[in-house]
Amino acid sequence: MKLLVIGSGGREHALAWKLAQSEQVKRVYAAPGNGGTEAEGKCENLRIPGTIASEEGQEALYAFARQTGIALTLVGPEAPLTAGIVDRFRSGGLAIIGPDKNAARLEGSKVFSKSFMEKYGVRTAQSKSFSDYAQALAYAAEHFKQTDHPLVIKADGLAGGKGVVIAEQYAEAAVTLRSFMQEGSLGNAGKAVVLEAFLSGQEVSVLAAVSVVPGKPGTILPFMAARDHKRRFEGGQGPNTGGMGAIAPVPDFSGAAAEDFRGSILEPSLRGMEQEGMDYRGFIFFGLMVQDTLCSLLEYNVRLGDPETQALVPLMDFDLAKLCDAILTGRLRDFPLQWKAGAVCAPVAVAAGYPGAYQTGYPISLDQEAFSQTGALLFIAGAEKKENRENGENGENKSSLYTAGGRVLGVSAWGTDPEDAWERAYRGMRAISFEGMAFRTDIGPPRP
Ligand code: AMP
Ligand code: GLY
Repeated sequence: MKLLVIGSGGREHALAWKLAQSEQVKRVYAAPGNGGTEAEGKCENLRIPGTIASEEGQEALYAFARQTGIALTLVGPEAPLTAGIVDRFRSGGLAIIGPDKNAARLEGSKVFSKSFMEKYGVRTAQSKSFSDYAQALAYAAEHFKQTDHPLVIKADGLAGGKGVVIAEQYAEAAVTLRSFMQEGSLGNAGKAVVLEAFLSGQEVSVLAAVSVVPGKPGTILPFMAARDHKRRFEGGQGPNTGGMGAIAPVPDFSGAAAEDFRGSILEPSLRGMEQEGMDYRGFIFFGLMVQDTLCSLLEYNVRLGDPETQALVPLMDFDLAKLCDAILTGRLRDFPLQWKAGAVCAPVAVAAGYPGAYQTGYPISLDQEAFSQTGALLFIAGAEKKENRENGENGENKSSLYTAGGRVLGVSAWGTDPEDAWERAYRGMRAISFEGMAFRTDIGPPRP
């Protein structure tokens, strides 16, 4: 069976690696993929015209899948999903994993997803949505008159991680609202906003497989919990990033919290999807804020998380291609979702300056012997393979990896426990270097 993975990050490398382990899988195409997917056994990169979210790109992906006899397509990022790639593939009879365009609004529109949560009683922060600037401003002013808690401002549409601002004071809220709603700093994504109460606690990511089709009882099968570390610097300081590293499982996500998640978030979400008549056969990501054992939903993402996926794949004791098949054929309820014992620590190495401006094009060096002693996996995010200028010792063409993005790579280390995983992950990191390489040293459970 031939598979297609859409996307180009560390998540897609991890997915391609895991899918390639399946005996049923002969070939995995990654579109556009990266320098890691290209080098993986059974895998090949596919260049397409346009982007994966453009009509031109999606037509090219569809045509490729049809001509090549792709049995199953898996979509990594949200943009192609909200653009309707699932509808395009299914209308042509091709199997694809993801929500259709309508269901993808759970991530694509914060206004829609908050009203969905409220309608179906999914526990979440109290909020109000606005498309009128003056009314939003007046609400913010009233908020800061009544309390000194921060106000969370969320742009309605996809904003590549720049759409959420936690305003500590009215002045900051006013500047943000003007920038989003009046000046169009996020384009159409900021024309409407959700103003939300600030919640404190610990963030947890629960990824899950979903099989919901209109007119039938659906299933959501949650994965082991994971935790991203979103701020750039140690101790949760500095600017927000795409994710500086993840761990799985989450030691402080207790049995009682997991039970609360099921009753207060998972079950009402499933009821909502069924009652809205959604077609959702893919993965969902519940972004939780957990206070003691009480879970609130910060957001849905209609896809797997990045870097959470890199932390989860080494623990998957099941065939991911078979899980995808169970999602599509309505057999998810009985799927044996088994997890390996132990823990994974998966820190991410980024370019100097990230998440601000950064340089690319630096060669990446890897001490293969030291790295392989850790047993860790190397998942490439923003790096590409290029021919070296000099040839190798015996005149052969040498190619190596060069940085090509902000988040460059991740090391996913399995260990018998979180400490062992942490130790292996950072030994793995120290076997890698590139100009300006930076990483957080505290990806793991709280350390003394
Ligand atoms: P979102 O895209 O909704 O997940 O928001 C991005 C990040 O902003 C989250 O991962 C949280 O760190 C933070 N955040 C979002 N909503 C809230 C909230 N209501 N209270 C506190 N932090 C929040
Ligand atoms: N790790 C956060 C995300 O995938 O959006």
